Amino acid sequence: MGRVLVTGGAGYVGSHVVRCLIEAAREVVVLDDLSSGHRSAVPGAALVEGDYGDVAALDRVFATGKVAAVVHLAGSCSVGESMADPGLYYRNNVVKTVALLDAVRRHGAGVFVFASSASVYGEPTEVPLREENATIPASPYGETKLAVERLLAWHHRAHGLKYAALRYFNAGGAHPSGTLGEDHGARESHLLPRLLLGVLNGGPPTPIHGEDYPTSDGSCVRDYVHVMDLAQGHKAALHALERGALEAGTFNLGNGEGYSVKEVVAVVARVTGKAPPTERAPRRAGDPAILVASTERARRRLGWEPAHRTLEEIVATAWRWHREHPQGYGDR
Ligand code: UFG
Repeated sequence: MGRVLVTGGAGYVGSHVVRCLIEAAREVVVLDDLSSGHRSAVPGAALVEGDYGDVAALDRVFATGKVAAVVHLAGSCSVGESMADPGLYYRNNVVKTVALLDAVRRHGAGVFVFASSASVYGEPTEVPLREENATIPASPYGETKLAVERLLAWHHRAHGLKYAALRYFNAGGAHPSGTLGEDHGARESHLLPRLLLGVLNGGPPTPIHGEDYPTSDGSCVRDYVHVMDLAQGHKAALHALERGALEAGTFNLGNGEGYSVKEVVAVVARVTGKAPPTERAPRRAGDPAILVASTERARRRLGWEPAHRTLEEIVATAWRWHREHPQGYGDR
C-alpha cells in the first residue's frame, strides 16, 4: 500500500477522508490551494499548497515520493453558484481534472477515487435513485461532475486507470472527536451549516428556497449522509480498487432516506433546543425537487454501510462542532 494523494484534502469532506486514511495507517499527501480548505484540518498529512490544475504544482507533489492512488475531492461545490457562473465550474471541475489525470498518467498512479455528486441525476425519474438511472443534470455543477465521470470512463478504457466515482448525496455532521467540521466561512451556502450558524449567532435567517415543489410539504427533499460515512466510503472504494475487487464503478453514497427542508429545520430546532431563524424565499435555480439514494450497489460491491443512520446524529455532531468552534478553524 503506497502513498495516497488527496486533492482538496483540507476541505470539509476531504479532511474527514484524510483522517480516516491516516487512521487506517495510510501515508497521505494533501494538495490544496487553501481557498476553502484549512491548514489545521490535516494534521498528520503532508500538505502541498497549490492548485490541482497547475502542472508545476502537480509535478511537485508527485516528486515528493511515489503516489500509488489519488482521491480527488478538489473543486467547486455549490449548485447556486454554478448557475450564476457556469464557466467557473467548467474550469475548476473539468479543465483542472484533465491536468490532474495527465499528471496521474505521467507519474503512473493507477488508482483513482473521485468525489462525484448526486446532482448528476437532475430531476429523478424514480426514487430512490439507482446508479443506472438517467443522468440529466439540472445545474452546471452536476454537469461538470458528470463530465469528469465520463472522462474517467474513457481513461479507464484508453489507459487502464482503475477508478471509482462516488456520488455523494447531502454531506453533513462532523468528526466525533470534535476536531474537524464544516467551515466555508462567509461563503457557506449549504442548508445544515446555515441553519446551525443561524441558531448560534441569532441570524441571519436561512432562506427556505421554495414551498411549491411536488413533495409532502412543498419544500425540497434530500438524503443526508454523515461525513464520517462518506469518508469510510472513500476508504472502502480505495481498498476495493487496490485489492483488485473493482476495476471501475460508480456508487451512490447516501442514507436512503429523504428529509424535506422543513423537516431539517424541525430536527435542527429539536437538537439545538432553539428554532433556527428562517424566511420564505423563491426556488433556487438548479434544484431538483427530490434526491434520495439507493445504496444497494455500494453495500454489495464495496461492503459499505452507513453507520450514522439518523438526521439527529448528523445534526448533533455538526452542532457540537459549530458550538465549540464558533469561528470555525479561525484562520480567515
Ligand atoms: N436550501 C435552502 N436554503 C439554503 C440552502 C439550501 O432552502 O439556504 C435548500 C436547497 O434549495 C436544497 C436543500 O436545501 O433543496 C439542500 O441544499 P444544499 O445547498 O445544502 O445542498 P444541495 O442539495 O444543493 O447539494 C448537495 C451537495 C451536492 C449533492 C447534493 C445531493 O452539495 O454535491 O447535495 O443531494 F449532489
